Amino acid sequence: MGKSPFINIITSTILLALFAIVGTGLVAYTFENTEERIKLNEKNALLRSLHALIPPEKHDNDIFHDSLQVTMPAMLGTSDLVTVYRARKNGEPVAVALTAVAPNGYSGAIKLLIGILYDGTLAGVRIVTHHETPGLGDAIEETRSDWVLSFSGKSLENPNKAGWKVKKDGGVFDQFTGATITPRAVVKAVHKALLYYNQERDKLFSFRKEPKPKPTLEKSSET
Ligand SMILES: Cc1cc2nc3c(=O)[nH]c(=O)nc-3n(C[C@H](O)[C@H](O)[C@H](O)COP(=O)(O)O)c2cc1C
Repeated sequence: MGKSPFINIITSTILLALFAIVGTGLVAYTFENTEERIKLNEKNALLRSLHALIPPEKHDNDIFHDSLQVTMPAMLGTSDLVTVYRARKNGEPVAVALTAVAPNGYSGAIKLLIGILYDGTLAGVRIVTHHETPGLGDAIEETRSDWVLSFSGKSLENPNKAGWKVKKDGGVFDQFTGATITPRAVVKAVHKALLYYNQERDKLFSFRKEPKPKPTLEKSSET
């Protein structure tokens, strides 16, 4: 005698439920693992860039953790929280590195990591992400050309305000052949980040890091 239809339905339902649970579990496990790995890769890439701008021997603190988050859309190009990494030696401020955004690249936002020495001189600039055209705007990448290295040693005084433009606009920074929009956007963003640093330097270094949550220096808290 065969199983009753009722038993068959129950068995099928249980099997389906088991497949669904195992399937969902596997997807969740893979997602979590991949997400973790992506985060770790991003952290390592950021650490490499941070160390390229602020070499480990120049500071004795953990700059990755001695950080705070700020918002200043008008100066840093994004309404997102921006992390400011602080380098210190023997407790004395050495430099900061922050991620600003050039919102008006040829193909949208260009994310930058900007290292600024305590005295306001640029330690350097690195491109974190961009969508500029290969062979044109992508010359901002360190792997494509030396252009981005030309920021090192510059400051608000060197060059002066008029110089903080591409040569085509009367400034000191090169544009690329057939591609002015991208370098123009990056130069403007770096200049604004320097102005921001100049205005906020003392607060950025004096703001003590709380264990959790990360301290937020909102625009409203500046005054
Ligand atoms: C398909 C295509 C892609 C382009 N990509 C870029 C780019 O990534 N960056 C850039 O600055 N200009 C790019 N350009 C060129 C710009 O349109 C513009 O002509 C150039 O930046 C000069 O700008 P200017 O007239 O303000 O000096 C691209 C043009 C085309 C047709």
